[in-house]
Amino acid sequence: MSIFTPPSRDCPLCPRLVEFRMANRAKFPSWHNGPVNPFGGLDARLLIVGLAPGLRGANATGRPFTGDWAGDLLYDTLLAKGLAKGTYAERADDGLELIDCRITNAVRCVPPANRPTPAEAKACRPFLADEVAAMPNLRAILAIGGFGHNEALTALGVKKSAFPFAHGAIHRATQKVTVVDSYHCSRLNTNTGRLTAEMFAKVVEEAVVRMG
Ligand code: URA
Repeated sequence: MSIFTPPSRDCPLCPRLVEFRMANRAKFPSWHNGPVNPFGGLDARLLIVGLAPGLRGANATGRPFTGDWAGDLLYDTLLAKGLAKGTYAERADDGLELIDCRITNAVRCVPPANRPTPAEAKACRPFLADEVAAMPNLRAILAIGGFGHNEALTALGVKKSAFPFAHGAIHRATQKVTVVDSYHCSRLNTNTGRLTAEMFAKVVEEAVVRMG
């Protein structure tokens, strides 16, 4: 098993993201404003892969999806499906615990307008690859959105063209790991009805089945 080392607090790899981080540190000094480390143990069987921290959510609180609109649906669903215990209170110190699952982002620093560039995705890629390799019990990945899907497949070392993204798709990506796809649980997708709470609950249930 390999070792996973997260990016340093002042990770210098992406000049545009460093500039954005410095501006946010000046503007919002009480916020986390650094790479957001994953939440949950490396011994988990399920890894949930998001896009990148939201400006006022994970970038502010320091925990993936925490304080984001997207986090309300994600954490409520994890609690309902037995993948978390405690209370989700939109803060990193709310005491919420994940059960056999871990949440991470394909890109670990907040990008302007929620959009990492291809160069930023590439620079951050080794962190997800190392993380996946450092999870000895990993059986399932829940990809939150097409970006997370692509980066998860790359981290697993398989061809993206063999496993096209589709909401609800179940990809036997490797002998050990199944990737389950969901539309991103973003405000846009839930407000427009592209993703409902029921649809999201169903893909989380699928991911639980694939952990077995
Ligand atoms: N917050 C995250 O941490 N990741 C996302 O993909 C969206 C919101």
